[in-house]
Amino acid sequence: MVPELRGDRVHLRELTEADVPAWFARATDAESAALAGDPIPESIEAGFVWLARNRERFRQQTGIRWSIVPNGSAESVGSIGLAITSKDERIAELGVVIGRAWWGKGLGTAAAQLVARYAVDALNLAEIRAELLQSNMASRRLLEKAGFRFEAVIPDFDQSDAGSVDGLLYVLRGPDGTETP
Ligand SMILES: CC(C)(COP(=O)(O)OP(=O)(O)OC[C@H]1O[C@@H](n2cnc3c(N)ncnc32)[C@H](O)[C@@H]1OP(=O)(O)O)[C@@H](O)C(=O)NCCC(=O)NCCS
Repeated sequence: MVPELRGDRVHLRELTEADVPAWFARATDAESAALAGDPIPESIEAGFVWLARNRERFRQQTGIRWSIVPNGSAESVGSIGLAITSKDERIAELGVVIGRAWWGKGLGTAAAQLVARYAVDALNLAEIRAELLQSNMASRRLLEKAGFRFEAVIPDFDQSDAGSVDGLLYVLRGPDGTETP
């Protein structure tokens, strides 16, 4: 079972069917989807596929995703997760989305800090990576405050009719994670 993580501002719990409507609202927010690089789903059914995929990844030990709930509330404001991209090298990628109504309240940062600590201390990961659009200032600040450091520019990260834009790679290393030269 996905472990519950508790912090001062938010707690992170297992995803459930009750999270699907809020997921659909976030996923169909065009600006948010573009920032996160996610396709916009056509119907809420995609939310149940999203839930099943996350459950399967947890069973396979290739990923873990939580619902973000502010303390003192029962309402989920977003989700955050780790996708294990290399089991051998103990590398994971972080993904986080907060619903627009709750942007800028520190909830994303609080959730990322909990997951970063869990990834290093409990999962013993050597490296947690995050890739984002250069223009995603909220995400950059969130990552910096959660202990991630800028690592590299990713050329042609996002390609659209309007042209291509670069992305950024941020990395958080565990105690034995080695710096790339
Ligand atoms: C990125 C995201 C998760 C941040 O979550 P959040 O709860 O709004 O972030 P926080 O409130 O913890 O704020 C983090 C920092 O970003 C700043 N920030 C928030 N919104 C901002 C904006 N629109 N522009 C610039 N900075 C912003 C905050 O002021 C804070 O910095 P500070 O401590 O220096 O003041 C959220 O905006 C989101 O879901 N965006 C759409 C999806 C996305 O981009 N996901 C990440 C993909 S890598």
